[in-house]
Amino acid sequence: MNTITIKNILLVLGGLIVIPALLFIPIPKIDKKASSDIEMPDDFMWGAATSAHQIEGGDVESDWHVFERVEGNIVNGDTAEVAADGYARAMDDVKLLTDLGLNSYRFSVEWARVEPENGNYNEEALKHYKDLVLELKKNGIEPIVTLHHFTNPTWIYDDGRSWVDEEIKNEFIEYSKRVIDYMDGEVTYWTTVNEPALVSRHSYKQAGWPPQLESTELYENALNNMLNAHNQLYDYIKGKKSDSQVGLAYNFTDYIPKKNNAIDTFLTYQHRKTTTWQWVDKVKDKSDFIGVNYYMRHHVGLGEPIAHGGYLFEDLNDMGWNIQPEGLENVLVLINKRYGLPAIITENGLADGKDAKRTRFIDEHVKAIKRAMNQGADVKGYTHWSLMDNFEWQAGYDMKFGLYEINRETLERKARNSAMFYKELVESK
Ligand code: FCB
Repeated sequence: MNTITIKNILLVLGGLIVIPALLFIPIPKIDKKASSDIEMPDDFMWGAATSAHQIEGGDVESDWHVFERVEGNIVNGDTAEVAADGYARAMDDVKLLTDLGLNSYRFSVEWARVEPENGNYNEEALKHYKDLVLELKKNGIEPIVTLHHFTNPTWIYDDGRSWVDEEIKNEFIEYSKRVIDYMDGEVTYWTTVNEPALVSRHSYKQAGWPPQLESTELYENALNNMLNAHNQLYDYIKGKKSDSQVGLAYNFTDYIPKKNNAIDTFLTYQHRKTTTWQWVDKVKDKSDFIGVNYYMRHHVGLGEPIAHGGYLFEDLNDMGWNIQPEGLENVLVLINKRYGLPAIITENGLADGKDAKRTRFIDEHVKAIKRAMNQGADVKGYTHWSLMDNFEWQAGYDMKFGLYEINRETLERKARNSAMFYKELVESK
């Protein structure tokens, strides 16, 4: 009797504390309509993305190939030696897209493969990528081709050079022109550089990625070189084929104040400016669309300035990144207000080995896109990251982002349940 009474008292006390506390937890606005009820434009691009180094295997002339061989750099000592064997299976993998009813595919051309030595181009590699473009088009899939997705040929570092030097920018432009010429008008959608700010930060400011330098000045030089390369390539591509659609894929994290007060609001504003607007502004006049890579929201404020996982009671993916579809809505609305340009979601996805959260993730993010469109954002496409499990940079193979699961022994591809959901969603549009 006594224990029951004490238990009851504790429950009441607990309730008195927990219930009011719950009132302060932001509850995500969830659109009542299921995604399948939402109308999307007929020409909306539904796609999936990969990058060369992460799926191809055998990318032996690249800086990451060297980096992965240094003990401690990659979880479990994994390397992209095999990856998803995507280079050899590229043509067969087109079926992975058609089976899901997708109408676009974002992939990257590997600079280290096309130009394994400075000035020495590999015809076979160029032909490989063009064949892939033609195969995609034959199957009604619009290729979105990325020219730089994190990796570089090792020779760019000869004599201590790197992206910090304008020379590399010019060499990257030369390689890109080769690819553009070789494609001979077959490609309409280009994303020149993938996440220039993120790759520059990891490589030149935080010493995490090759060439592992640590300087704010170098970071800014490298980033400016990448943005300038984009601007120059924009003109080149448009000059060759005026109906081309050119953008770069930028990592748009959403930022919100940790606390609803003036200081945190100001810090958030500043943070968005220095991480995002100040750089994207530099390419806005040379962009037909803004490529949006969206993964998470950061909470900005005093104290520990930024939290991206586990803040309050957020749902997390296997990487520890929070799942915040509203952040995508916010980013798209802000981009539209600032630039008035169309957006393509060039990446959005999650590491979810059990495939327990991916279906709802896709559903909620598509609804978030629709809400942004209702507020005026012109969104042309959604590209899920990733078509298949792959080599997730320093996290190796443990982190599974694929719509298709890859058996690491047999390399067999198998559609996850969430991929079937995505297929139905796309079909219903
Ligand atoms: C992005 C990268 C992509 C992949 C996802 C998870 O930043 O562009 O290659 O690693 O994150």
